[in-house]
Amino acid sequence: MKEKKILVLGGKGKTGRRVAEKLIELNKEIRIGSRNETPAFDWENPETWSDALDDIHSIYITFQPDLAIPSAAETIKKFTTLAVDMGVKKMVLLSGRGEKEAEVSEQIVMNAGVDWTIVRASWFNQNFSESFFLDPILAGHIALPRGETPEPFIDVNDIADVVVESLLHDKHNGQIYELTGPRLLTFKQIIAEISKVTGREITFEALTIDDYTKMLREHQVPEDYIWLINYLFTEVLDGRNSNLTNDVEKVLGRKATDFTQYLKETVQTGIWNPVNQLP
Ligand SMILES: NC(=O)c1ccc[n+]([C@@H]2O[C@H](COP(=O)([O-])OP(=O)(O)OC[C@H]3O[C@@H](n4cnc5c(N)ncnc54)[C@H](OP(=O)(O)O)[C@@H]3O)[C@@H](O)[C@H]2O)c1
Repeated sequence: MKEKKILVLGGKGKTGRRVAEKLIELNKEIRIGSRNETPAFDWENPETWSDALDDIHSIYITFQPDLAIPSAAETIKKFTTLAVDMGVKKMVLLSGRGEKEAEVSEQIVMNAGVDWTIVRASWFNQNFSESFFLDPILAGHIALPRGETPEPFIDVNDIADVVVESLLHDKHNGQIYELTGPRLLTFKQIIAEISKVTGREITFEALTIDDYTKMLREHQVPEDYIWLINYLFTEVLDGRNSNLTNDVEKVLGRKATDFTQYLKETVQTGIWNPVNQLP
């Protein structure tokens, strides 16, 4: 019998792209969930969901922009109900560590009546090279609140490895994994480390949450995005996550990747030293 497919939502994003690549390497049949694929998948357009779910056995769910937003639970409920009706048998959900609000969506997945694994992740290393912190790093100046809060930043390659294991092996059914890197680091320390490995001067400016919000408004960042950033900096980055777990090792049988390894690999890509910005 033909093996049914695995749907990788956010399959072009930071964790999803790596999950998709690893599954393809293992000769698994996959479908990328993206607004730019055929069929397209858009969280904001439920009419796109059933085509993306056709002939799917398992799903890696990465929600946008974050499970903590007020409308997330309703969307996750609608989506998982349709998925189960269409024959999906397993769901692996990416969640945020320390995000109380995300637990409502986690419960929805856990109670959907099919196999599940919850993967709660710490802040990603790759936010500094593939996401919102890249531009200020390239500009040589980053201004943020919570510069001194220790966070166990995690490499998204480790998350992808755990997700692939969870998708493919039943022993991970019914598990909640909390994934952290092996070391606590602050924004201030990270910017100093990136500055050192790139040989570029990158300054860190400590802001209060209020000043940061004001700065985002001045840059015309949409209000719902400002709400989310405020939530992440006040609720999630208040020190509640300043501790390590060994769930990466528990699942993969190896240590979590150290930030130094991420620095080494990322500096080699040249992303932090575009040709016209060499020191
Ligand atoms: N970043 C972190 O530090 C962190 C930490 C813990 C948990 N998380 C969670 O990880 C998840 C991914 O977050 P991320 O910021 O890292 O992004 P990301 O995985 O890099 O995802 C970006 C992708 O999201 C897709 N996307 C955007 N809007 C969409 C929509 N309306 N419908 C379908 N796909 C859409 C885009 O794909 P297309 O353009 O191809 O459609 C884009 O490639 C979120 O749920 C977040 O809460 C993130």
